[in-house]
Amino acid sequence: MPSLAVAILAAGKSTRMKSKTVKVLHPLAGVPIIHYVLSTAANIQPTRIVLVIGHGGQQIKDAIGPGPIYVEQGELLGTGHALLQARPALEGQADTILCLYGDMPLLRSETLRRLIAAHQAARAVVTLLTVSGDDSMGFGRIVRDAGGHVQAIVEEKVASPAELAIKEYNCGVYCFQSDWLWPRLTHLPVSPAGEFYLTDMVAVAVCEGKPVQTLPCDDVTEVLGINNRVQLAQAEAIVRDGIRRNLMLNGVTMIDPATTYIDATVTIAADTVIYPNTLIEGATRIGADCQIGPNSQIRDSTIGDHCRIWASVVEEAVVRDHVSIGPFSHLRPGAQIGEGTHIGNFAEIKNSTLGRHVHMGHVSYMGDATVGDDVNIGAGTITCNFDGIQKNPTTIEDGAFVGSDTMLVAPVKVGKRARTGAGSVVTHDVPADSLAYGVPAKVVKKAET
Ligand code: UD1
Ligand code: CA
Repeated sequence: MPSLAVAILAAGKSTRMKSKTVKVLHPLAGVPIIHYVLSTAANIQPTRIVLVIGHGGQQIKDAIGPGPIYVEQGELLGTGHALLQARPALEGQADTILCLYGDMPLLRSETLRRLIAAHQAARAVVTLLTVSGDDSMGFGRIVRDAGGHVQAIVEEKVASPAELAIKEYNCGVYCFQSDWLWPRLTHLPVSPAGEFYLTDMVAVAVCEGKPVQTLPCDDVTEVLGINNRVQLAQAEAIVRDGIRRNLMLNGVTMIDPATTYIDATVTIAADTVIYPNTLIEGATRIGADCQIGPNSQIRDSTIGDHCRIWASVVEEAVVRDHVSIGPFSHLRPGAQIGEGTHIGNFAEIKNSTLGRHVHMGHVSYMGDATVGDDVNIGAGTITCNFDGIQKNPTTIEDGAFVGSDTMLVAPVKVGKRARTGAGSVVTHDVPADSLAYGVPAKVVKKAET
Protein backbone atom coordinates (compact mmCIF):
# COMPACT_ATOMS: atom_id res chain seq x y z
CA MET A 1 0.00 0.00 0.00
CA PRO A 2 1.42 3.42 -0.92
CA SER A 3 1.76 5.71 2.09
CA LEU A 4 -0.38 8.78 2.57
CA ALA A 5 0.01 12.16 4.24
CA VAL A 6 -2.53 14.97 4.51
CA ALA A 7 -2.16 18.73 4.13
CA ILE A 8 -5.04 20.95 5.26
CA LEU A 9 -5.03 24.56 4.12
CA ALA A 10 -6.42 27.02 6.62
CA ALA A 11 -4.31 30.14 6.32
CA GLY A 12 -6.72 32.27 4.29
CA LYS A 13 -8.04 35.64 5.40
CA SER A 14 -11.70 34.57 5.64
CA THR A 15 -12.65 37.93 4.14
CA ARG A 16 -16.14 36.82 3.20
CA MET A 17 -17.00 35.83 6.77
CA LYS A 18 -16.60 39.47 7.87
CA SER A 19 -15.52 38.33 11.29
CA LYS A 20 -12.90 38.85 13.98
CA THR A 21 -12.83 35.09 14.34
CA VAL A 22 -10.91 33.02 11.81
CA LYS A 23 -13.29 31.20 9.50
CA VAL A 24 -12.31 27.66 10.44
CA LEU A 25 -12.90 28.38 14.14
CA HIS A 26 -16.52 29.36 13.67
CA PRO A 27 -18.60 26.74 15.48
CA LEU A 28 -20.70 24.29 13.56
CA ALA A 29 -23.14 22.57 15.92
CA GLY A 30 -20.91 23.73 18.75
CA VAL A 31 -17.63 22.43 17.31
CA PRO A 32 -15.12 24.52 15.32
CA ILE A 33 -15.26 23.88 11.57
CA ILE A 34 -11.62 22.78 11.44
CA HIS A 35 -12.25 20.01 13.97
CA TYR A 36 -14.50 18.22 11.49
CA VAL A 37 -11.83 18.35 8.80
CA LEU A 38 -9.10 17.21 11.18
CA SER A 39 -11.09 14.28 12.47
CA THR A 40 -12.11 13.20 8.96
CA ALA A 41 -8.43 13.34 8.01
CA ALA A 42 -7.40 11.40 11.12
CA ASN A 43 -9.96 8.71 10.24
CA ILE A 44 -8.07 7.72 7.13
CA GLN A 45 -4.92 7.21 9.23
CA PRO A 46 -2.33 9.18 7.29
CA THR A 47 1.32 9.09 8.35
CA ARG A 48 1.03 12.76 9.27
CA ILE A 49 -1.35 15.70 9.08
CA VAL A 50 0.02 19.15 8.33
CA LEU A 51 -2.16 22.17 8.99
CA VAL A 52 -1.17 25.29 7.07
CA ILE A 53 -2.04 28.37 9.12
CA GLY A 54 -1.50 32.06 8.57
CA HIS A 55 -4.21 34.60 9.24
CA GLY A 56 -5.30 34.03 12.85
CA GLY A 57 -2.83 31.16 13.14
CA GLN A 58 -2.31 31.62 16.85
CA GLN A 59 -6.09 31.50 17.45
CA ILE A 60 -6.16 28.19 15.60
CA LYS A 61 -3.23 26.75 17.57
CA ASP A 62 -4.83 27.82 20.85
CA ALA A 63 -8.15 26.24 19.91
CA ILE A 64 -6.78 22.95 18.60
CA GLY A 65 -3.62 22.43 20.61
CA PRO A 66 -1.14 19.69 19.79
CA GLY A 67 -2.04 17.11 17.16
CA PRO A 68 -1.38 18.30 13.64
CA ILE A 69 1.98 19.63 12.50
CA TYR A 70 1.54 23.38 12.10
CA VAL A 71 3.28 25.21 9.29
CA GLU A 72 2.95 28.92 8.68
CA GLN A 73 2.19 30.65 5.42
CA GLY A 74 3.71 34.07 6.03
CA GLU A 75 2.30 35.89 3.03
CA LEU A 76 -1.10 34.73 1.82
CA LEU A 77 -0.35 34.16 -1.84
CA GLY A 78 -2.99 31.57 -2.68
CA THR A 79 -3.76 27.90 -2.24
CA GLY A 80 -0.79 26.68 -4.32
CA HIS A 81 1.59 28.79 -2.23
CA ALA A 82 -0.12 27.52 0.93
CA LEU A 83 0.51 23.88 0.04
CA LEU A 84 4.11 24.70 -0.84
CA GLN A 85 4.68 25.76 2.78
CA ALA A 86 3.98 22.14 3.79
CA ARG A 87 6.80 20.85 1.61
CA PRO A 88 9.52 20.69 4.29
CA ALA A 89 7.16 18.83 6.61
CA LEU A 90 5.86 16.40 3.98
CA GLU A 91 8.48 15.79 1.32
CA GLY A 92 9.76 12.23 1.54
CA GLN A 93 7.13 11.33 4.12
CA ALA A 94 4.54 9.68 1.87
CA ASP A 95 3.86 8.57 -1.71
CA THR A 96 0.50 10.30 -1.89
CA ILE A 97 -0.39 13.77 -0.62
CA LEU A 98 -4.07 14.40 0.06
CA CYS A 99 -4.76 18.12 0.12
CA LEU A 100 -7.94 19.43 1.75
CA TYR A 101 -9.24 22.89 2.45
CA GLY A 102 -10.03 23.68 6.07
CA ASP A 103 -13.42 25.14 5.21
CA MET A 104 -15.11 21.90 4.04
CA PRO A 105 -16.33 20.26 7.23
CA LEU A 106 -18.95 17.93 5.75
CA LEU A 107 -16.58 15.78 3.71
CA ARG A 108 -16.76 12.13 4.75
CA SER A 109 -13.72 9.95 5.24
CA GLU A 110 -15.47 7.36 3.05
CA THR A 111 -15.27 9.77 0.11
CA LEU A 112 -11.60 10.46 0.81
CA ARG A 113 -10.90 6.74 0.84
CA ARG A 114 -12.58 6.38 -2.56
CA LEU A 115 -10.55 9.30 -3.92
CA ILE A 116 -7.28 7.83 -2.67
CA ALA A 117 -8.14 4.41 -4.11
CA ALA A 118 -9.02 5.94 -7.50
CA HIS A 119 -5.79 7.95 -7.48
CA GLN A 120 -3.59 5.02 -6.66
CA ALA A 121 -5.35 2.64 -9.06
CA ALA A 122 -4.99 5.10 -11.96
CA ARG A 123 -1.37 5.96 -11.06
CA ALA A 124 -2.36 9.54 -11.78
CA VAL A 125 -0.17 12.47 -10.77
CA VAL A 126 -3.26 14.32 -9.62
CA THR A 127 -6.77 13.12 -8.87
CA LEU A 128 -9.55 15.50 -7.97
CA LEU A 129 -12.98 15.26 -6.52
CA THR A 130 -15.60 16.90 -8.70
CA VAL A 131 -19.28 17.59 -8.28
CA SER A 132 -21.97 18.36 -10.83
CA GLY A 133 -25.16 20.39 -10.57
CA ASP A 134 -26.87 23.65 -11.41
CA ASP A 135 -25.54 25.60 -8.45
CA SER A 136 -21.82 26.32 -8.85
CA MET A 137 -21.46 27.42 -5.20
CA GLY A 138 -18.67 29.66 -6.54
CA PHE A 139 -16.50 26.65 -7.38
CA GLY A 140 -13.90 26.45 -10.15
CA ARG A 141 -15.01 24.83 -13.41
CA ILE A 142 -13.59 21.57 -14.72
CA VAL A 143 -12.65 22.17 -18.35
CA ARG A 144 -12.50 19.01 -20.48
CA ASP A 145 -11.55 18.47 -24.11
CA ALA A 146 -13.74 16.85 -26.75
CA GLY A 147 -12.51 13.45 -25.60
CA GLY A 148 -13.63 14.17 -22.03
CA HIS A 149 -10.09 14.55 -20.70
CA VAL A 150 -9.56 17.18 -18.02
CA GLN A 151 -7.63 20.16 -19.35
CA ALA A 152 -7.72 22.69 -16.54
CA ILE A 153 -9.60 24.16 -13.62
CA VAL A 154 -10.81 27.69 -14.18
CA GLU A 155 -11.81 29.82 -11.21
CA GLU A 156 -15.29 31.28 -11.37
CA LYS A 157 -14.07 34.86 -11.14
CA VAL A 158 -11.90 34.57 -14.26
CA ALA A 159 -14.06 32.14 -16.27
CA SER A 160 -15.36 33.01 -19.74
CA PRO A 161 -19.14 32.77 -20.38
CA ALA A 162 -18.58 29.38 -22.03
CA GLU A 163 -16.62 28.15 -19.02
CA LEU A 164 -19.21 29.55 -16.65
CA ALA A 165 -21.78 27.35 -18.37
CA ILE A 166 -19.86 24.21 -17.35
CA LYS A 167 -21.73 22.27 -14.68
CA GLU A 168 -18.87 20.20 -13.34
CA TYR A 169 -17.00 21.83 -10.48
CA ASN A 170 -13.78 21.48 -8.50
CA CYS A 171 -14.47 20.51 -4.88
CA GLY A 172 -10.99 21.43 -3.70
CA VAL A 173 -10.00 17.93 -2.62
CA TYR A 174 -6.93 16.54 -4.35
CA CYS A 175 -4.57 13.61 -4.29
CA PHE A 176 -1.09 14.26 -5.63
CA GLN A 177 1.76 11.94 -6.38
CA SER A 178 4.29 13.31 -3.95
CA ASP A 179 7.45 13.08 -6.08
CA TRP A 180 5.71 14.80 -8.95
CA LEU A 181 4.06 17.49 -6.83
CA TRP A 182 6.78 19.20 -4.85
CA PRO A 183 9.25 20.25 -7.55
CA ARG A 184 6.43 21.52 -9.76
CA LEU A 185 4.62 23.42 -7.04
CA THR A 186 7.57 25.82 -6.86
CA HIS A 187 7.03 26.75 -10.49
CA LEU A 188 3.30 27.40 -10.47
CA PRO A 189 2.40 30.32 -12.73
CA VAL A 190 0.96 33.38 -11.02
CA SER A 191 -2.76 33.91 -11.65
CA PRO A 192 -4.26 37.18 -12.94
CA ALA A 193 -5.25 37.88 -9.31
CA GLY A 194 -1.56 37.71 -8.30
CA GLU A 195 -2.02 34.41 -6.42
CA PHE A 196 -0.64 30.95 -6.95
CA TYR A 197 -3.64 28.71 -7.47
CA LEU A 198 -3.27 25.06 -6.53
CA THR A 199 -5.91 24.37 -9.16
CA ASP A 200 -3.35 25.28 -11.85
CA MET A 201 -1.45 22.08 -11.05
CA VAL A 202 -4.00 20.34 -13.27
CA ALA A 203 -2.93 22.37 -16.32
CA VAL A 204 0.72 21.69 -15.40
CA ALA A 205 0.04 17.95 -15.46
CA VAL A 206 -1.87 18.20 -18.74
CA CYS A 207 1.04 20.14 -20.32
CA GLU A 208 3.39 17.36 -19.34
CA GLY A 209 1.00 14.74 -20.71
CA LYS A 210 0.67 13.21 -17.27
CA PRO A 211 -2.52 11.41 -16.20
CA VAL A 212 -5.14 13.47 -14.36
CA GLN A 213 -7.97 11.55 -12.80
CA THR A 214 -11.34 12.71 -11.45
CA LEU A 215 -13.78 11.16 -9.03
CA PRO A 216 -17.37 12.40 -8.99
CA CYS A 217 -18.91 13.13 -5.60
CA ASP A 218 -22.61 12.19 -5.63
CA ASP A 219 -23.65 14.13 -2.58
CA VAL A 220 -23.33 17.84 -3.12
CA THR A 221 -23.94 18.64 0.55
CA GLU A 222 -20.73 16.85 1.44
CA VAL A 223 -18.60 19.36 -0.42
CA LEU A 224 -20.26 22.50 0.82
CA GLY A 225 -17.43 24.97 1.41
CA ILE A 226 -17.94 27.61 4.06
CA ASN A 227 -16.87 30.99 2.73
CA ASN A 228 -19.61 33.19 4.21
CA ARG A 229 -22.25 33.03 6.91
CA VAL A 230 -24.99 31.93 4.54
CA GLN A 231 -22.97 28.79 3.80
CA LEU A 232 -22.21 28.47 7.51
CA ALA A 233 -25.95 28.41 8.22
CA GLN A 234 -26.50 25.84 5.45
CA ALA A 235 -23.81 23.59 6.89
CA GLU A 236 -25.20 24.09 10.39
CA ALA A 237 -28.64 22.93 9.24
CA ILE A 238 -27.16 19.82 7.60
CA VAL A 239 -24.99 18.88 10.60
CA ARG A 240 -27.79 19.43 13.11
CA ASP A 241 -30.18 17.42 10.99
CA GLY A 242 -27.70 14.53 11.04
CA ILE A 243 -27.28 14.79 14.82
CA ARG A 244 -31.05 14.70 15.40
CA ARG A 245 -31.51 11.83 13.00
CA ASN A 246 -28.81 9.82 14.67
CA LEU A 247 -30.26 10.43 18.13
CA MET A 248 -33.77 9.54 17.01
CA LEU A 249 -32.53 6.34 15.40
CA ASN A 250 -30.92 5.56 18.74
CA GLY A 251 -34.12 5.90 20.73
CA VAL A 252 -34.50 9.60 21.56
CA THR A 253 -37.94 11.09 20.84
CA MET A 254 -38.13 14.62 19.46
CA ILE A 255 -41.58 16.15 19.42
CA ASP A 256 -40.45 18.81 16.95
CA PRO A 257 -37.00 18.15 15.45
CA ALA A 258 -37.12 21.48 13.62
CA THR A 259 -36.94 23.44 16.89
CA THR A 260 -34.56 21.09 18.68
CA TYR A 261 -30.91 22.17 18.54
CA ILE A 262 -28.31 19.69 19.72
CA ASP A 263 -24.55 20.11 19.50
CA ALA A 264 -22.32 17.44 18.01
CA THR A 265 -20.73 16.93 21.45
CA VAL A 266 -23.96 15.92 23.24
CA THR A 267 -25.01 12.40 24.19
CA ILE A 268 -28.58 11.44 25.08
CA ALA A 269 -29.75 7.98 26.15
CA ALA A 270 -32.80 6.11 24.88
CA ASP A 271 -36.41 6.92 25.78
CA THR A 272 -35.63 10.49 26.62
CA VAL A 273 -38.14 12.89 25.09
CA ILE A 274 -37.08 16.34 23.89
CA TYR A 275 -39.87 18.91 23.67
CA PRO A 276 -39.84 21.86 21.25
CA ASN A 277 -37.65 24.97 21.49
CA THR A 278 -34.82 23.26 23.28
CA LEU A 279 -31.06 23.79 22.96
CA ILE A 280 -28.64 21.22 24.28
CA GLU A 281 -25.08 22.37 23.99
CA GLY A 282 -21.42 21.67 24.71
CA ALA A 283 -20.22 18.72 26.75
CA THR A 284 -23.69 17.67 27.89
CA ARG A 285 -24.72 14.13 28.75
CA ILE A 286 -28.36 13.28 29.32
CA GLY A 287 -29.50 9.94 30.67
CA ALA A 288 -32.46 7.75 29.79
CA ASP A 289 -36.20 8.34 30.32
CA CYS A 290 -35.90 12.10 30.77
CA GLN A 291 -38.27 14.81 29.63
CA ILE A 292 -36.37 17.85 28.45
CA GLY A 293 -38.15 21.07 27.48
CA PRO A 294 -40.14 22.67 26.08
CA ASN A 295 -38.20 25.95 26.06
CA SER A 296 -35.06 24.76 27.81
CA GLN A 297 -31.34 25.34 27.39
CA ILE A 298 -28.76 22.95 28.78
CA ARG A 299 -25.03 23.54 28.38
CA ASP A 300 -21.98 21.58 29.55
CA SER A 301 -24.03 19.60 32.07
CA THR A 302 -24.66 16.04 33.13
CA ILE A 303 -28.26 14.97 33.65
CA GLY A 304 -29.11 11.55 35.12
CA ASP A 305 -31.97 9.21 34.26
CA HIS A 306 -35.68 9.95 34.77
CA CYS A 307 -35.23 13.70 35.06
CA ARG A 308 -37.62 16.42 34.02
CA ILE A 309 -36.27 19.81 32.94
CA TRP A 310 -39.10 22.09 32.01
CA ALA A 311 -38.66 25.60 30.62
CA SER A 312 -35.37 26.07 32.46
CA VAL A 313 -31.72 26.93 31.91
CA VAL A 314 -28.99 24.58 33.13
CA GLU A 315 -25.31 25.53 32.77
CA GLU A 316 -22.24 23.58 33.92
CA ALA A 317 -24.32 21.64 36.41
CA VAL A 318 -24.63 18.03 37.51
CA VAL A 319 -28.13 16.65 38.04
CA ARG A 320 -28.58 13.13 39.42
CA ASP A 321 -31.46 10.71 38.70
CA HIS A 322 -35.16 11.44 39.29
CA VAL A 323 -34.72 15.21 39.58
CA SER A 324 -37.39 17.66 38.42
CA ILE A 325 -36.59 21.25 37.59
CA GLY A 326 -38.83 24.12 36.52
CA PRO A 327 -40.61 25.75 34.98
CA PHE A 328 -38.48 28.90 34.93
CA SER A 329 -35.49 27.92 37.00
CA HIS A 330 -31.79 28.50 36.45
CA LEU A 331 -28.97 26.19 37.43
CA ARG A 332 -25.71 28.10 37.14
CA PRO A 333 -22.14 26.77 37.07
CA GLY A 334 -21.30 24.48 39.96
CA ALA A 335 -24.86 23.46 40.81
CA GLN A 336 -25.00 19.80 41.86
CA ILE A 337 -28.43 18.36 42.47
CA GLY A 338 -28.91 15.09 44.34
CA GLU A 339 -31.17 12.21 43.43
CA GLY A 340 -34.91 12.71 43.77
CA THR A 341 -34.65 16.44 44.41
CA HIS A 342 -37.37 18.81 43.24
CA ILE A 343 -36.56 22.33 42.09
CA GLY A 344 -39.76 24.11 41.20
CA ASN A 345 -40.48 27.57 39.83
CA PHE A 346 -38.13 30.55 39.74
CA ALA A 347 -35.20 28.99 41.57
CA GLU A 348 -31.59 29.99 41.03
CA ILE A 349 -28.78 27.74 42.18
CA LYS A 350 -25.11 28.67 41.81
CA ASN A 351 -22.01 26.83 43.04
CA SER A 352 -24.11 24.80 45.45
CA THR A 353 -24.65 21.17 46.25
CA LEU A 354 -28.14 20.00 47.09
CA GLY A 355 -28.52 16.53 48.60
CA ARG A 356 -31.14 13.88 47.94
CA HIS A 357 -34.87 14.54 48.16
CA VAL A 358 -34.55 18.26 48.73
CA HIS A 359 -37.67 20.33 48.07
CA MET A 360 -37.04 23.80 46.78
CA GLY A 361 -40.36 24.57 45.21
CA HIS A 362 -40.67 28.30 44.78
CA VAL A 363 -38.74 31.52 44.19
CA SER A 364 -35.48 30.74 46.02
CA TYR A 365 -31.76 31.39 45.66
CA MET A 366 -29.00 29.07 46.80
CA GLY A 367 -25.51 30.48 46.22
CA ASP A 368 -22.32 28.90 47.63
CA ALA A 369 -24.48 26.56 49.72
CA THR A 370 -24.17 22.96 50.82
CA VAL A 371 -27.57 21.45 51.45
CA GLY A 372 -27.97 17.96 52.93
CA ASP A 373 -30.62 15.31 52.27
CA ASP A 374 -34.38 15.65 52.91
CA VAL A 375 -34.21 19.40 53.36
CA ASN A 376 -37.19 21.67 52.71
CA ILE A 377 -36.34 25.09 51.33
CA GLY A 378 -39.43 27.24 51.84
CA ALA A 379 -40.75 29.68 49.27
CA GLY A 380 -38.69 32.83 48.99
CA THR A 381 -35.63 31.51 50.87
CA ILE A 382 -32.45 33.37 49.99
CA THR A 383 -28.81 32.72 50.83
CA CYS A 384 -27.39 36.20 51.39
CA ASN A 385 -24.00 34.95 50.23
CA PHE A 386 -22.38 38.23 49.25
CA ASP A 387 -21.50 40.78 51.92
CA GLY A 388 -20.35 43.37 49.44
CA ILE A 389 -16.75 42.21 49.57
CA GLN A 390 -16.72 38.45 49.37
CA LYS A 391 -18.89 35.39 48.84
CA ASN A 392 -19.63 33.39 52.01
CA PRO A 393 -20.84 29.82 52.41
CA THR A 394 -24.11 28.52 53.79
CA THR A 395 -24.61 25.01 55.13
CA ILE A 396 -28.03 23.46 55.64
CA GLU A 397 -27.82 20.00 57.16
CA ASP A 398 -29.93 16.88 56.66
CA GLY A 399 -33.59 17.09 57.54
CA ALA A 400 -33.63 20.87 58.13
CA PHE A 401 -36.81 22.79 57.43
CA VAL A 402 -36.20 26.32 56.22
CA GLY A 403 -39.39 28.36 56.57
CA SER A 404 -40.73 30.57 53.82
CA ASP A 405 -38.97 33.85 53.20
CA THR A 406 -35.94 33.00 55.36
CA MET A 407 -32.84 35.12 54.76
CA LEU A 408 -29.72 33.07 55.51
CA VAL A 409 -26.98 35.65 56.10
CA ALA A 410 -23.76 33.82 55.24
CA PRO A 411 -21.48 32.54 56.58
CA VAL A 412 -24.11 30.59 58.46
CA LYS A 413 -25.16 27.03 59.22
CA VAL A 414 -28.55 25.48 59.88
CA GLY A 415 -28.03 22.23 61.81
CA LYS A 416 -29.66 18.82 61.36
CA ARG A 417 -33.43 18.85 61.65
CA ALA A 418 -33.37 22.53 62.69
CA ARG A 419 -36.23 24.80 61.62
CA THR A 420 -36.47 28.47 60.77
CA GLY A 421 -39.67 30.45 61.10
CA ALA A 422 -41.26 32.22 58.17
CA GLY A 423 -39.62 35.57 57.53
CA SER A 424 -36.58 34.92 59.77
CA VAL A 425 -33.32 36.70 59.13
CA VAL A 426 -30.75 34.14 60.29
CA THR A 427 -27.43 35.81 61.16
CA HIS A 428 -26.02 33.13 63.50
CA ASP A 429 -25.72 29.36 63.24
CA VAL A 430 -28.85 27.44 64.17
CA PRO A 431 -27.92 24.31 66.19
CA ALA A 432 -29.30 20.88 65.32
CA ASP A 433 -32.88 20.22 66.43
CA SER A 434 -33.55 23.85 67.33
CA LEU A 435 -35.86 26.53 66.00
CA ALA A 436 -34.81 30.02 64.97
CA TYR A 437 -37.28 32.78 64.20
CA GLY A 438 -37.60 36.53 64.03
CA VAL A 439 -35.49 39.43 62.78
CA PRO A 440 -32.69 38.92 63.59
CA ALA A 441 -33.51 35.31 64.36
CA LYS A 442 -33.39 34.08 67.95
CA VAL A 443 -32.81 30.41 68.66
CA VAL A 444 -35.17 28.35 70.79
CA LYS A 445 -33.43 25.22 72.04
CA LYS A 446 -35.43 22.22 70.90
CA ALA A 447 -37.44 22.49 67.74
CA GLU A 448 -41.03 21.31 68.22
CA THR A 449 -41.29 18.28 66.00
C1 UD1 B 1 -11.17 27.05 -3.85
C2 UD1 B 1 -10.66 26.60 -5.21
C3 UD1 B 1 -11.86 26.38 -6.14
C4 UD1 B 1 -12.76 25.34 -5.52
C5 UD1 B 1 -13.17 25.73 -4.11
C6 UD1 B 1 -13.88 24.58 -3.47
C7 UD1 B 1 -8.46 27.58 -5.56
C8 UD1 B 1 -7.70 28.64 -6.25
N1 UD1 B 1 -9.78 27.60 -5.77
O1 UD1 B 1 -11.81 28.30 -3.98
O2 UD1 B 1 -11.44 25.93 -7.41
O3 UD1 B 1 -13.90 25.20 -6.34
O4 UD1 B 1 -12.03 26.04 -3.31
O5 UD1 B 1 -14.14 24.83 -2.15
O6 UD1 B 1 -7.86 26.77 -4.87
N2 UD1 B 1 -5.94 29.30 1.84
C9 UD1 B 1 -4.68 29.35 2.38
N3 UD1 B 1 -3.79 30.28 1.92
C10 UD1 B 1 -4.10 31.15 0.92
C11 UD1 B 1 -5.41 31.08 0.37
C12 UD1 B 1 -6.30 30.14 0.85
O7 UD1 B 1 -4.34 28.56 3.28
O8 UD1 B 1 -3.23 31.96 0.56
C13 UD1 B 1 -6.88 28.29 2.38
C14 UD1 B 1 -8.13 28.92 2.96
O9 UD1 B 1 -7.95 29.16 4.35
C15 UD1 B 1 -9.19 27.88 2.69
C16 UD1 B 1 -8.68 27.15 1.46
O10 UD1 B 1 -7.33 27.48 1.31
O11 UD1 B 1 -9.33 26.96 3.74
C17 UD1 B 1 -9.46 27.52 0.20
O12 UD1 B 1 -9.39 28.92 0.02
P1 UD1 B 1 -10.70 29.73 -0.37
O13 UD1 B 1 -10.33 31.18 -0.46
O14 UD1 B 1 -11.83 29.35 0.47
O15 UD1 B 1 -10.90 29.19 -1.86
P2 UD1 B 1 -12.24 29.20 -2.71
O16 UD1 B 1 -12.48 30.56 -3.24
O17 UD1 B 1 -13.33 28.55 -1.96
CA1 CA C 1 -13.60 27.92 0.19
